[in-house]
Amino acid sequence: KRIIIINGPNLNLLGKREPEIYGSDSFEEFFKKLQNKNPGLQLEYYQSNIEGKLVSKIQQADDEFDGILLNAAAYTHTSVAIHDAIGAIAVPVVEIHISNIYKREEFRHKSLISSKCVGMISGLGLKGYQLGLEYFKNN
Ligand code: DQA
Repeated sequence: KRIIIINGPNLNLLGKREPEIYGSDSFEEFFKKLQNKNPGLQLEYYQSNIEGKLVSKIQQADDEFDGILLNAAAYTHTSVAIHDAIGAIAVPVVEIHISNIYKREEFRHKSLISSKCVGMISGLGLKGYQLGLEYFKNN
């Protein structure tokens, strides 16, 4: 199976950004570990800070992948466009958050994208990405 991990704004700073919340691994390092742990899956990684680029990548993924792990980061809480893009494609999307968004500021408690996703993993750290991959192995 081909799975793409799409990360939104500021996740390029992972490892440097608020390590007490998001951990100290960069995503590139972590992604290599994911590839080694999941030899049966063809994994790709994409990150953008730009909402429209995330929308375009989600649209493209419809033809190219069997599943999407999406951490839309701050756009989770604001983006009708990402909500609509997920609704427009047939490929299943699992929503990922490294932190537990319900333990944080109130503005993070609402996700605009969850209603279009298969499910959501939040608060389990980077392990959430591995757990999302497990879902796609069996579905
Ligand atoms: C996040 C949670 C969001 O509220 C935040 O804006 C992020 C990261 C997470 O992975 O915990 O940038 O999606």
